[in-house]
Amino acid sequence: MEKLNQLYEGKAKKVFATDDPEVLLVSYKDDATAFNGLKKGTISGKGAINNRVTNFMMQLLEKEGVPTHYVKELSDRETLVKKVSIVPLEVIIRNISAGSFSKRCGVEEGIVFEQPTIEFSYKNDELGDPLINAYHAVALKLATWDEIETIKKLAFKVNDVMKAYFKNLGVDLVDFKLEFGRLSDGTIVLADEISPDTCRFWDSETHEKLDKDRFRRDLGNVEDAYIEMKKRILGE
Ligand code: TMP
Repeated sequence: MEKLNQLYEGKAKKVFATDDPEVLLVSYKDDATAFNGLKKGTISGKGAINNRVTNFMMQLLEKEGVPTHYVKELSDRETLVKKVSIVPLEVIIRNISAGSFSKRCGVEEGIVFEQPTIEFSYKNDELGDPLINAYHAVALKLATWDEIETIKKLAFKVNDVMKAYFKNLGVDLVDFKLEFGRLSDGTIVLADEISPDTCRFWDSETHEKLDKDRFRRDLGNVEDAYIEMKKRILGE
């Protein structure tokens, strides 16, 4: 597979064309942003860790029956994925109150929900990814009702698999963000990444934060948190 021209550069990844029109190459960067790009920095080694961790999770989820865009890991930072058209929704599942939920609803972080929650943000940087509901998503033609139903089912399945997996590693899966895409035949698959950038991970014993909140909130030891999560997930 040949790496061709760059198609897109996002905040954390670059995307390249390949000689197969159905396959793209994703390259993970060490760049970190928060608050819709207002805060900028570098987390040394992050790109390689997020690439490896994402690919591990995608393969685990495929085994559990969740279709994904994953094709093949090429190197530390580069992975081949199926070309999709991204559904412009950030799909957020929460098991424990934290972050924007706590702020919006005026509750402390750490309330364990009896059932997971799901919410959607409209993926639109100019608007700051506003929170919307499924009716808004359909009204804006971001997705059809059938697609919303599929996305919901898959997102809760991802939560079941990941929550159990991380529990075994001594990590509470607080919340996470997923993105989905459509293959050329319309099939919905899980896309983007699953990493300490896109999940909140708390150590089950100490409740130490092992994710990007260390960067967002200037808590220090950012790199160590990513290395620790890589160690627990990949055993290295
Ligand atoms: P939030 O509490 O800030 O809404 O974040 C919920 C989850 O989504 C958290 O695990 C971090 C992740 N997330 C992203 O992956 N990208 C984003 O742009 C934001 C705001 C959150």
